[in-house]
Amino acid sequence: MPRLEGKTAIITGAASGIGRASAIRFAAEGARVIAADVADEVRATCAEIEGSGGVAKAFVLDTSEKANVDTLVSVAKDDFGGVDVMFANAGIGGDFLFLDDLEAEHWAAVLKVNLIGVFIAVKAASMAMKEKGSGGSIICTASVAGLRASAGPSPYSASKAGVISLVQTASNQLVGTGVRVNAICPGLIETGMTKPMFDMAREVGKEDRIGQLNPLKRAGQPSEIAEVALFLASDESSYLNGQAIAVDGGLSSSLPFMPGRLA
Ligand SMILES: NC(=O)c1ccc[n+]([C@@H]2O[C@H](COP(=O)([O-])OP(=O)(O)OC[C@H]3O[C@@H](n4cnc5c(N)ncnc54)[C@H](O)[C@@H]3O)[C@@H](O)[C@H]2O)c1
Repeated sequence: MPRLEGKTAIITGAASGIGRASAIRFAAEGARVIAADVADEVRATCAEIEGSGGVAKAFVLDTSEKANVDTLVSVAKDDFGGVDVMFANAGIGGDFLFLDDLEAEHWAAVLKVNLIGVFIAVKAASMAMKEKGSGGSIICTASVAGLRASAGPSPYSASKAGVISLVQTASNQLVGTGVRVNAICPGLIETGMTKPMFDMAREVGKEDRIGQLNPLKRAGQPSEIAEVALFLASDESSYLNGQAIAVDGGLSSSLPFMPGRLA
């Protein structure tokens, strides 16, 4: 039986990268997908799903606005009988600035999408899931940047640390409801967000350096995060709750080290 048979999943940031790969993977496992993104390309994600015989609806909207997320949940209820899975994945990196050059406005812009947008999704989905009464799975994309420094600008890192805290508090406040809330903390993944870094490395012939700081010595692909999201979305992870799972090739498992020199 397909792993998400009969389930309805809302996925934000589904035009590109991790969200796109997850939307396609979830649909292949039988989920009805409601895909949202500010970018028009979310329609192409849904067209690809439909072309393979799946069910998907595309919405071009900003998921950091409560009214927009409410629309997604209403569609799930009206057309598909409710929400079973919310993958709050949309995110931005923000300007790459250090402390001296950062202003409050930079922080506000990043926190609005990466943390407040995720809170809005967690709240709207959990209320709909409680109303339906058959539990549910909420998955949020955090980052290894939320675990330690040096994987992004400070507003980005703080927003992702906030997401990890949110899954802990939300999962506990949803006590007794059967609604699970977890985060994925990807390491370096080749997506729209990281494309400039990959392009630059390729241009100067240093592609082999990408991802060299983790024990797998490579960057990850969106499909490798989508597989973990699928596991969290499915009933196979039925006892997994309130956790932040690093999917980073082992990057966050170590203190800084010199490869090959462990004296
Ligand atoms: N790529 C990495 O190395 C990496 C590592 C850790 C965490 N992440 C996180 O993964 C998530 C997905 O990013 P990605 O790497 O796939 O990058 P991506 O740029 O390919 O995809 C992000 C998508 O989110 C959309 N988006 C941004 N703001 C939005 C908004 N307000 N409303 C709706 N959609 C919005 C973008 O248009 C884009 O399609 C993000 O939360 C990101 O922070 C990425």
